[in-house]
Amino acid sequence: MSQRITITAALPYTNGPIHIGHLAGVYVPSDIYARYNRILGKDVAFICGSDEHGVPITIKAKKEGVSPQDIVDKYHAIIKKSFEDFGITFDNYSRTTAKIHHETASNFFKTLYDKGEFIEEITEQLYDAEAKQFLADRFVVGTCPKCGNEESYGDQCENCGTSHNATDLINPKSAITGATPSLKKTKHWFLPLDKHEDFLKEWILVGHKKDWKPNVYGQVKSWIDDGLRPRAVTRDLDWGIPVPVEGGEGKVLYVWFDAPIGYISSTKEWAEREGKDWEPYWKDKDTKLVHFIGKDNIVFHCIIFPAMLKAEGSFILPDNVPANEFLNLEGNKLSTSKNWAVWLHEYLVEFKDKQDVLRYALTANAPESKDNDFTWKDFQARNNNELVAIFGNFINRVVVLTNKYYEGIVPIPNDYTNDDNEVFKALKAYPDVIASSIERYRFREASQELMNLARLGNKYLADQEPWKQIKEDPERVKTIMYLALQIAGALAVLCEPFLPFTSIKLKAMLNHDALDSNLTWIGVGEGRELIQANHKIAKAELLFTKIEDAEIQAQLDKLQASKAANEAEAKLVDPQKEEITWSDFSKLDIRVGTILEAEKMPKTKKLLVLKVDTGIDVRTIVSGIAETFTAEEVVGKKVTVLVNLAPRALRGVESQGMILMTENEKGDLVFVNPDDTKQVSNGLKIS
Ligand code: 2FM
Ligand code: ZN
Repeated sequence: MSQRITITAALPYTNGPIHIGHLAGVYVPSDIYARYNRILGKDVAFICGSDEHGVPITIKAKKEGVSPQDIVDKYHAIIKKSFEDFGITFDNYSRTTAKIHHETASNFFKTLYDKGEFIEEITEQLYDAEAKQFLADRFVVGTCPKCGNEESYGDQCENCGTSHNATDLINPKSAITGATPSLKKTKHWFLPLDKHEDFLKEWILVGHKKDWKPNVYGQVKSWIDDGLRPRAVTRDLDWGIPVPVEGGEGKVLYVWFDAPIGYISSTKEWAEREGKDWEPYWKDKDTKLVHFIGKDNIVFHCIIFPAMLKAEGSFILPDNVPANEFLNLEGNKLSTSKNWAVWLHEYLVEFKDKQDVLRYALTANAPESKDNDFTWKDFQARNNNELVAIFGNFINRVVVLTNKYYEGIVPIPNDYTNDDNEVFKALKAYPDVIASSIERYRFREASQELMNLARLGNKYLADQEPWKQIKEDPERVKTIMYLALQIAGALAVLCEPFLPFTSIKLKAMLNHDALDSNLTWIGVGEGRELIQANHKIAKAELLFTKIEDAEIQAQLDKLQASKAANEAEAKLVDPQKEEITWSDFSKLDIRVGTILEAEKMPKTKKLLVLKVDTGIDVRTIVSGIAETFTAEEVVGKKVTVLVNLAPRALRGVESQGMILMTENEKGDLVFVNPDDTKQVSNGLKIS
């Protein structure tokens, strides 16, 4: 019986399409791992699906005036297609709105409930009386108690990264109605993580988990060292899986409770379709369970989900959780809302049939142990200098020369030289070398070893120069070409996990279907004859083509346009301030004035000391405009002045009013001045 491996890839949220960050962090590495294990004949279940619950989806639906179901239907289809287009070979791609998932998650909750694994607690939560609903974390905005950011979310401040409770926010507001919420009592179910602390310590810290990646192990250790607390697994919301027990009306399971159970329901869906039994994939202790995720999901997969599985009692726990760090794009954080991303569906329009190039560039530069940056220049270099110049060039030479010298018939080799034997020896070692990197989840290293094999082939041809020897020593050339064809065969097999589309093309060029069965991963490692003499190969076809500077520039321009649009939008309009009464306004005394004198305040960058004729008097006003205007250019300017602002001292000079200014889209200061074409004298009131 071959080893059973259950491989899961984080279920993506369906509130937007997916981008290169998702591909690099989770889906390409998991696909390499799944393909590799299938090649070795392992019994693989590679599982994923759409994560369709959670507050961001409901917020997006509200914004767009459609139902949450409409949102998830739309993005589920887009995301599923992107995965197919990039050759991500899930055995099943399900969704958490599927009936089988609702049943599975609901039953899971009930089992834990019946076993007394939850604590029930009544807590006070923010409630929006106008919308008649409790406000889940993302539905509350307010001032961050730590950094003062006025737009912090209830659960986390995106400015300083602190996570807090919605009740900690200063001036909390409902994101639905803008109303100030009040506290109201509500009952929820909590998973007492503290109860599982000993087991988690034993399993991860004392057990064998030291072979987990240092970033994963470190994060988990620090959570455990800080002490674990009960965690609410239900929410007051109407989008999600209804809480299936008494008192659960109007409440749903917390998205992070239901989503990982999605792995199980997706496996069930697959097994049903394939006529298999799903249970061994989740319950047999000999099954190896591996979760591929991004670093923001570590705590859920290494602490909460294992605690849930343990509490249930009949499930296995993950053997490894190879989480990746984040990928940045051209030096900035990838961002869906800021459109700072390379969207997969757009990439394929612009780089048709170049899926493998992106898969390779993302793998070769994967954020495995630290955050990494994707740059279009690096992408171009990976393509032009590695895939085209090394891999593609080698294959092209081998196939073209075999056709040219032998009409595509693989020649019978003569005696091998020492150099040949060295190359054979090196070739044989590659399957193990690449496998060892993959088994340790070091996919970048593995991809570089693959490229080293292509380098070996390229160097062999460059050293042996068959194109020179063909005249004087055609018998020697037969051996050279035979050996080069063996390397090409090995590349066709070993590149499959990384470059699946290329592997198919290359196998077709080598007329793989007419070969006997030696051309396998194992066959390469055992030094078998991969491509037999007298076998006929097909004609050459280019595997990769050069990417020109103009194509890269077009991508950079596109990003630049996103940046400009974001900046313009950010500048465009601030939201209207709170309403004021007429009497509030009438307190402001705003007059027409003229700047009579101006001089730079010594030892400051921004301040000008102005003498302004306000019509009432000539007074001193200190204004922070020196970075935009020189003293000379403002003298004589007509301005609007708030004259009854309480005086205040700036660097020891008393400022007796304020000149009204605005800022344009470029961030330059601009005077708000009276219409100069009409006669407006100093002292006239603005009302
Ligand atoms: O971070 C995310 O995109 C989540 N939707 C991942 C869920 S993983 C699993 F637990 F379902
Ligand atoms: Zn903050």
